[in-house]
Amino acid sequence: MTPADPPPSEPDGGDPRLVALLRHEIETAPDGRITFARFMERALTEPGLGYYATSADRPTRAGDFLTAPELHPFFGRCIARWLDRTWTSMGRPQRFAVREHGAGRGTLASTSLEGLRAEGSGSADLVEWQPVDVPGRHPEPGTGPFTGVVLANEYLDALPVHRLVQRDGVLRECFVTWRDGAFAWVEGAPSRPDLDASIRRAGVTLAEGQLVEVRPTVGAWLRALAAELRHGVLLVIDYGHPAVELYGPRRMGGSLVTYRGHTAADDPLRWVGQQDITTHVDLSDLDHHARAAGLTPLGRTTQARFLAALGLGELLADLGRRPDTEIPAYLAARAAVARLLDPRHLGGFAVVAYGIGMPADATLPGVPDADPTLADGAGADPTPAGTTGADATLAGAAGGDPRG
Ligand SMILES: C[S@@+](CC[C@H](N)C(=O)[O-])C[C@H]1O[C@@H](n2cnc3c(N)ncnc32)[C@H](O)[C@@H]1O
Repeated sequence: MTPADPPPSEPDGGDPRLVALLRHEIETAPDGRITFARFMERALTEPGLGYYATSADRPTRAGDFLTAPELHPFFGRCIARWLDRTWTSMGRPQRFAVREHGAGRGTLASTSLEGLRAEGSGSADLVEWQPVDVPGRHPEPGTGPFTGVVLANEYLDALPVHRLVQRDGVLRECFVTWRDGAFAWVEGAPSRPDLDASIRRAGVTLAEGQLVEVRPTVGAWLRALAAELRHGVLLVIDYGHPAVELYGPRRMGGSLVTYRGHTAADDPLRWVGQQDITTHVDLSDLDHHARAAGLTPLGRTTQARFLAALGLGELLADLGRRPDTEIPAYLAARAAVARLLDPRHLGGFAVVAYGIGMPADATLPGVPDADPTLADGAGADPTPAGTTGADATLAGAAGGDPRG
């Protein structure tokens, strides 16, 4: 089923105030419709009403889905090891910021800082963690140049997307309107002429009726961070694919997924403000804009390889050897490790790093070939480094539920 031909979505269960705000915006818009990117932006981040604006606890067991930092503190321990390595390869700067985009409730910060102390890292006492999230959740980090690391774990997938569909050989945009008491899809000419830039760069011809999502704000995000990061590394961890795969024939329906109560579904026009809306990240688009912003690729791998290279298995073995470890805690850790390494789920997430002012031999742990030029082709889009064989299915290529 395509957005052009759905049964009308009922706004049932959605926050009535948010539904009313969106409906008002639609009904007062010149064409009686808004882009899906605008709908998604307000549904997720509208101050006081949006899905992420109303709770920091969405990615928890009590919430709607589970992220790696929330799954087990071992994830933060591994990130701590990576931070220590990165800090060391940068020459142990005495001022070292970790700016975390999509920091949520701060679990990655607390487990990583604990990890730096447990590992005896010289950076433990000087790291300045700068969480960034929806307005009002954390103090603003301030502006200006800084040295350190930018982290984005499951952040880019939450940024708004436009939905496009191929009709009679022409690309159309899927807008959101209000019809028969519910939000509904309506197609029209694209709201911006450059919306298909990432698809064209990839040289992909969409099939008739194929639905895709594009995220044009990634370039601006990268330019803004590259303007401030004077020396350091950007580390993105997310479900994503090279463009040829993301816009390829295996994904006729796009990659949009909603989450509510640990159940994945695919209708973003329901449960407005009460369900997550997410799509996979276009790794080729990320690469294009990162290079254009002056960032140098340091490597791309899968989360499984990245975490294994940082000693995730040894952390579990050490826990098992400690005489004070309770069996339930060990079993929980073992189950979490299996999930973090499973290439069909969290283990298949992409881990991508870019540097500014980094030494030529700086690489990403878990990238078997140290040649950073293998990290992505500028347009050619080869199989990314570290993703050969079974790992070529970055982030659950076959299914629609990457967090599953
Ligand atoms: C999927 S959650 C991941 C949270 C955390 N990084 C983790 O791994 O548990 C996405 C996070 O991005 C934040 N977020 C979503 N859209 C955002 C936006 N437009 N600006 C800033 N933060 C945003 C959400 O509030 C949420 O904390």
